[in-house]
Amino acid sequence: MHPTKKFRPLILAIAMALPLVSSPNLLADESSIFSQMATAQPVWAKHGMVASQETLASRTGIEILKQGGNAVDAAVAVAFSLAVTLPRAGNIGGGGFMLVHIAKENKTIAIDYREMAPSKANKDIFLDENGDAVEKLSREHGLAVGVPGTVMGMSLALEKYGTMTLKQVTAPAIEMAQEGISVTPDLAQSLAGLKRRMSQWPTTAAIFYKADGSDYQVDDVLKQPELAHSLSLIAQKGTKGFYEGETATKIVKAVQDAGGIMTLDDLKQYKVVERKPVRGEYRGYEVVSMPPPSSGGVHIIEMLNVLQQFPIDKLGQNTAQTIHLMTETMKRAYADRSEYLGDPDFYNVPVKALTSKDYAQKIASQISMDKITPSTDIKPGKLAPYESDQTTHFSVVDKWGNAVSNTYTLNFSYGSGLVAKGTGILLNNEMDDFSAKAGVPNGYGLVGGDANAVEGNKRPLSSMSPTIVMKDGKPFLVTGSPGGSRIITTTLQIIMNVIDHGLNIAEASNAARIHHQWLPDELRVESSLNRDTISLLEAKGHKVKVQSAMGSTQSIMVNEQGIFGSSDPRHAGSEAIGY
Ligand code: DON
Repeated sequence: MHPTKKFRPLILAIAMALPLVSSPNLLADESSIFSQMATAQPVWAKHGMVASQETLASRTGIEILKQGGNAVDAAVAVAFSLAVTLPRAGNIGGGGFMLVHIAKENKTIAIDYREMAPSKANKDIFLDENGDAVEKLSREHGLAVGVPGTVMGMSLALEKYGTMTLKQVTAPAIEMAQEGISVTPDLAQSLAGLKRRMSQWPTTAAIFYKADGSDYQVDDVLKQPELAHSLSLIAQKGTKGFYEGETATKIVKAVQDAGGIMTLDDLKQYKVVERKPVRGEYRGYEVVSMPPPSSGGVHIIEMLNVLQQFPIDKLGQNTAQTIHLMTETMKRAYADRSEYLGDPDFYNVPVKALTSKDYAQKIASQISMDKITPSTDIKPGKLAPYESDQTTHFSVVDKWGNAVSNTYTLNFSYGSGLVAKGTGILLNNEMDDFSAKAGVPNGYGLVGGDANAVEGNKRPLSSMSPTIVMKDGKPFLVTGSPGGSRIITTTLQIIMNVIDHGLNIAEASNAARIHHQWLPDELRVESSLNRDTISLLEAKGHKVKVQSAMGSTQSIMVNEQGIFGSSDPRHAGSEAIGY
């Protein structure tokens, strides 16, 4: 008998024996905006919503919507604003991914503005003479810097799908950089915490620490006039104001002075790619997410396909049984990630095979309900023959039903820490997302192989997973998160919390999170997970580790009652604002 079939009666028996724990909101009056059963309430709005990790940036987005801009106009304004107000992740010196849903045409586009390796890069650049990977080279060095994609990505999005000019959407960011922003507790703490990496570069220290080397305190004003100048060049000259001329020359000089190999030509040749999103079906909803070179969408769909084989709603939210099934699924997906995922322009990524329902059934059949399979016994799956500490996410929905889900990053907090002299621009260390050497983990403990080896002009594999879940062909849930390797599982849990467990978007965001990434073989959980649940998981063989909070989701849910937003409560300073 097919093993899944063998287990099914058992699973159902367990589920039926459980007390009725069906989601509170399903029991509540469906027509009310705020359910009395809810243990957390989202922000409600009638016309539009922006959820981002920084209040001033969310406000900028809402202002643009109020001025008549669409979701793309607002998203681009938020992206430029975050480069000023959330400098550890918001950026113009990094890259990312944007999912845009255009209601009128009923189409969703994936904009890939991921950094590219400089053309002279090769698979050995991060190895020493013994062939060992040297972390510093891919993290705090000129070689760590990938060719930035954010400015090109934002310009393309605006030009093709927005209605406003670059000048209009950069204006708030320029003003905040020029006039200064009031330092929040979150910014003060993060700058103080990253002082070692940041202050090794004098150009960076001069901006983010005071002249005497001391830290900015809460309510101090942080001015970034050089960044204001760089942004003004973009406002005036478009992408040429960044990829050519003064800014480009300064970036290349800074990177080369720091030992890197980026050239002016690399900047000039940078390309944004519009891709077809990956699509999957989960319990009647359509999940639309980021394709490679992000691994996010593929593995979210792979995992949902597996989990759909089990009655998750009956088993309950964050019960040991549900977490066990999720964990066993995560391990197998991350094992596949290590083998099959890379830049699709360089490597034939088996997207169809990994996201097929047949493959999911095969995985589900290997999962025991009672005990774990150790990671050492899990290898990347055999596929059917196939077709030849910061990132930030924001979500925007407008009154026309357009939606943007955007995740972008410098990789680590403040990236490489290097500001190109005279530009105010922090440069990424995205090159660390390549596999410096097969089997050697990157900064997020992720291992990879040839598919993600360094090559000139290649994009490093990402976990960023901007996602839009559609219901009846319309955006229902717009979501995503930072968190390195945890992005994929965090986004998965938001989707499951809403679809399987009927939680509203605030409850879904607040719920305790778990994560397993195959290697290391440990189940990471947040401290709010029930201790009894942890004991039950340990009894099944899980090595449970309580560690720091995961993710910073910025989500919007749309239904007949209106637009509901929720910023993850895990990070101070985040805000969902509606109007
Ligand atoms: O692209 C990636 O997957 C990573 N560079 C993202 C880094 C990240 O999320 C850090 N944030 N917490």
